[in-house]
Amino acid sequence: MFHTQALTLFPEFFHSPMSCSIPSRALAAGLVSFEAIQIRDFATDKHHKVDDTPYGGGPGMLMKPEPVVAAIREARIRQPETHVVMLTPSGTTFNQAKALEYIEKPGITLLCGRYEGFDERIVDYVDEELSLGDYVLSGGEPAAVSVLDALIRLLPGVLGSSESAVLDSFTEAGILDWPHYTRPEEFEGKRVPDVLLSGNHAAIEQWRRKQSALRSRKRKQHSED
Ligand code: ADE
Repeated sequence: MFHTQALTLFPEFFHSPMSCSIPSRALAAGLVSFEAIQIRDFATDKHHKVDDTPYGGGPGMLMKPEPVVAAIREARIRQPETHVVMLTPSGTTFNQAKALEYIEKPGITLLCGRYEGFDERIVDYVDEELSLGDYVLSGGEPAAVSVLDALIRLLPGVLGSSESAVLDSFTEAGILDWPHYTRPEEFEGKRVPDVLLSGNHAAIEQWRRKQSALRSRKRKQHSED
């Protein structure tokens, strides 16, 4: 079983994503475990303070090191082999190759911050800093949910053969999936490409490969612009 944990001030953020669709099925089948650990439970002062103002001034609040590091230690006690990942816009960018790398580990712990970020010293207690992309979320939780979903669907046995992850976009080094169509044959004047209705499997295969290549080239051009 692949063991996942989230360190968060908002455990309830994970309730609905983990109780719908593929993640809920994977949990029920015992293919993955998930525990949310409340960082506030590790605050030792009487107000359970988890954030404070930045030294040197400036706006916003930072996550304090003591409760966060205590929560990380608890996560490592519960799952001694876990890989601890801090979610932060300044981390390396998540992608499918990373997802495939993570599922080879015994498990993952996703550290979610709120407010303006973490006290920098916390970085010494994690294994990696990870970003979802070049934009700022109001906290790590939505990023953690995305990472969890991307990992869970790749675990052996989670997807049925009809949903197989093998043909996913990106599984082959950045090659995008081809366009897909279902019924009706015509929708608001837009027709399904004739080749897909032809029954000619070799021609269909060739068309799909060509469309994949075109899309991948187009995407690459956009990202270089
Ligand atoms: N926390 C805030 N923004 C984030 C991002 N883009 N990726 C990961 N964690 C974040």
